[in-house]
Amino acid sequence: MKHWQRTSDCGTLNINHLGEEIVLNGWVNRSRDHGDLVFIDLRDRTGIVQVVIDAATSPEMIDTARSLRSEFCVSIQGRVRARREGAVNPNLATGEIEVITDHLEVLSTSKTLPFQVSDESAMSQVDETLRVKYRYLDLRRPKMYQMLALRHKVVTLIRDFMNAESFLEVETPIFTKSTPEGARDYLIPYRLNPGYFYALPQSPQQYKQLLMVAGVERYYQIARCFRDEAQRADRQPEFTQLDLEMSFVTQEDILSLIERLITHVVTSVSDKQILSPFPRITWDEALRRYGSDKPDIRFGLELVDISELVRGKGFSVFNNVLANGGEVKALRYPKGSSLSRREVDELATFCKEFGAQAMASIAVNEDGAKSPISKFFEPETMTAILKACEAEVGDLICLVADTPKTVANVLGRLRLEIGNRLGLRDPNKLYFNFITDFPLVQWDETEKRWDAEHHPFTMPREEHLEYFDTDPGKIRAQCYDLVCNGQESGSGSIRIHRPDIQSKVFSLLGISEETQRERFGHILDAFSFGAPPHGGFAPGIDRLIMNLQDEPNIREVMAFPKMGLGYDPMMDAPSAVDAAQMKELGLEVRPHKK
Ligand code: AMO
Repeated sequence: MKHWQRTSDCGTLNINHLGEEIVLNGWVNRSRDHGDLVFIDLRDRTGIVQVVIDAATSPEMIDTARSLRSEFCVSIQGRVRARREGAVNPNLATGEIEVITDHLEVLSTSKTLPFQVSDESAMSQVDETLRVKYRYLDLRRPKMYQMLALRHKVVTLIRDFMNAESFLEVETPIFTKSTPEGARDYLIPYRLNPGYFYALPQSPQQYKQLLMVAGVERYYQIARCFRDEAQRADRQPEFTQLDLEMSFVTQEDILSLIERLITHVVTSVSDKQILSPFPRITWDEALRRYGSDKPDIRFGLELVDISELVRGKGFSVFNNVLANGGEVKALRYPKGSSLSRREVDELATFCKEFGAQAMASIAVNEDGAKSPISKFFEPETMTAILKACEAEVGDLICLVADTPKTVANVLGRLRLEIGNRLGLRDPNKLYFNFITDFPLVQWDETEKRWDAEHHPFTMPREEHLEYFDTDPGKIRAQCYDLVCNGQESGSGSIRIHRPDIQSKVFSLLGISEETQRERFGHILDAFSFGAPPHGGFAPGIDRLIMNLQDEPNIREVMAFPKMGLGYDPMMDAPSAVDAAQMKELGLEVRPHKK
């Protein structure tokens, strides 16, 4: 078997190469056997070119050529020539030429593939688990290679940008101790002391802060993070962040750096429209206007508070909600007045699924407003509601009365649903925005304790320190998220660098002093050795690629993703280990109780 030194790439050949003697390596995408003439679509990572083996000019090659099957790996020697008129393929970059072959060598044969990688149009029919089981074949598809290439380009752009901004790339350990980011840890048993475990990092959060104490000042890392949490379309158990941290900076410095970086990356690799500057919206305002702390701002349709318009009027349901500290909000559904009764009922069911008691609606028709609740209100109140909503003829106004949290959740989701239905979520727009001033903590009703909204290292606003003992829910943090098209793309904060404040936050979160020493002694100690003020950020790289590719499924932007429940069908992981290994680790498995 001879593997000639390749001289050219399949996908880049064109009429400028006419007459050149070349060597190509690649895979048989398809082959067509016309007896004395065999055509091969030869594919490598750059594209496809037509290769011709002619019995008249290469009689010793024709049998080999006729034996070729899809996905055989081959090497050919030949000459570039123009295709004859009528055979030009305008859909192929190399469609004006072909390669007439003198020598053909099969480097490796192939069994029939579990799915045809050459037929992109049929891929949507292929079961995704099968694709992931044979990911090395799935990645042969040009579409998947382009995804890998885009990831590579994005990471290269990021590295170049960060290097030019005087950041230092530092690797931090993968075997470490738990860092709280809100998920469960993946643990690694420690053989030398059974019962002891390392944790895989949920993020390099503590290390990057310690690097600031170390005086590194500007750190970044393309960091792998591990989180045992419920999977969603935009979540994987292991994923990649651009993790960064800076000393002696304000929130403004960090947001401005992130805005420049994201703008640079997005405009370098795509034609998507972005906003400049990225709008900044406080957390309170985002919930008030969009019902979400990750608003999709590609379209308006903001929530309208009509509590004061309906308070004390004839509708007891609204009055009761308002008397209990709730609110009544409205959302305009353009052209929704033509929905059938059943379709409006379905909208109400949608709202109930997300926690609403009910959804009331007003249809705005030529002949006035029609609503089951209009009988409770004077005509002036109805007019005032429609005016507040800037309603137009043809609209449906959707109303929800509940606690502020439920109203935001329900109408926030309904807003996205309406946006989807009306085609307002334009994939050519990447509307990044920053959400700022998150609450420091949120109350966990089930556990009856305060939880960190972001993570416990976030610095409260100085002027809110006084609420620690009186009203912790009021404390706003120097914490911010980057949001794009309704998805969280990244987050960060100014950190606590004073041991007394750090300890106060831990205590608020119900972490006893003893546990603080045990779990976070290293960081409390570090802060007592001249820790600089610092802050940072971490955009998710997988999610950025999803945005750039308009891809709703995170697995499609990863080389080797996990399927549901964290299963890897290719490696068949996780899997059982043998008894001797378990013994060595001092582990014993208790069978699952049904
Ligand atoms: P956070 O936990 O918000 O912050 O994560 C930052 C970003 O990482 C991405 N991300 C994920 N992507 C895919 N799958 C997941 N399971 C997943 N979880 C998170 C998101 C998210 O916005 N240490 C802090 C950052 C900091 O404060 O500097 C942190 O990890 O894009």
